[in-house]
Amino acid sequence: SKGAYPTFMLKEIDEQPAVMRRISQEYLTTSGQPQIEPKLLQTLAQADRLYFVAAGTSYHASLVGKRLFEKYTQIPAEVGVASEFGYHWPILSQQPVFIFLSQSGETADSRQVLIEAKRRHLPTLVITNVANSTLARESDYSLVLHAGPEIAVASTKAYTAQIAVEAVLAKALGEYLAIPAALAWDLQMQLSLAANGMATLVDDKQGWADLAANFLGASQDAFYLGRGIDYDVSLEAALKLKEISYVHTEGFAAGELKHGTIALIEQDVPVITFITERTTASHTRGNVQEVLARGAQVLVIASEACQQATDQIVLPELTPELMPLLTGVCGQLLAYYATLQRGLNVDQPRNLAKSVTVE
Ligand code: F6R
Repeated sequence: SKGAYPTFMLKEIDEQPAVMRRISQEYLTTSGQPQIEPKLLQTLAQADRLYFVAAGTSYHASLVGKRLFEKYTQIPAEVGVASEFGYHWPILSQQPVFIFLSQSGETADSRQVLIEAKRRHLPTLVITNVANSTLARESDYSLVLHAGPEIAVASTKAYTAQIAVEAVLAKALGEYLAIPAALAWDLQMQLSLAANGMATLVDDKQGWADLAANFLGASQDAFYLGRGIDYDVSLEAALKLKEISYVHTEGFAAGELKHGTIALIEQDVPVITFITERTTASHTRGNVQEVLARGAQVLVIASEACQQATDQIVLPELTPELMPLLTGVCGQLLAYYATLQRGLNVDQPRNLAKSVTVE
């Protein structure tokens, strides 16, 4: 039930700090050691490449997974949209392992790839919120998200839970492979910092409602931009906004602006920019100047290390690949209030079903 909440989506957004703490408790020992079944680690350790396959928001969480696994395990990873991958299989590496992300565990597009992977006798892991779902039953291994039931059509807590569980698995595998970056990574501390950072964000509801009204109030179009990990989250934030508010929204790589999208930037168009990567911050600042010069209304969401005086939102610093735990929540809150202010049904947007069981 929604309890005292007006919508499931707001309840599920609010639950995220608790979900981070639960994942930490379920998957890490009190001293912070990841607890993953040894057989799964042995299987993953033999992989020469990981193939992440998922749809929608789970695909966006997989993009973050690729970064986490490549950094902490040094195993190359590819990410595929299930409905594309299933019909256009790439040439696989010698020892692939497949990782499916699915909140519901019922997505037909992902299941189709799983069935073919099994037919080829390739090892499969499913990361899902539903322990007894079809994908969990049909894969070799499964890990649960511990996010609790997600009812609103727009996925929120499952996205951040997927990233947290990917982080646990990347750390476990990296330690198993004796990768120094994994051994040195205090993930328990990071999940705790993420939970606290999320709590600060969700506590400022009026602030988010005001930002949504000021930046997205009258718009029919909006843009999210960022580089690297901030690009991954731009795609997710754009999906969140478009699917519930029906504002036409694009998320794109900031550097791609000048290759076409900048033609769409005109007076008063909202451009929401994530700047949390120190290595690319100055380049993205340059893109902000370009859209400001064309009259865009720019909302900057930056991390402490990248912040400038005019930024509207400043987030505490996490491991760079975990910043979507906070930037993702910002995207959720903006989408939520932009939709509420339009008088639309937040939990049940038109044309969409919670689990998509047809290809
Ligand atoms: C977006 C959303 C969808 C799902 C997608 C995959 O908010 O909810 O894009 O993420 O349909 O669903 P699962 O994760 O259940 O496989």
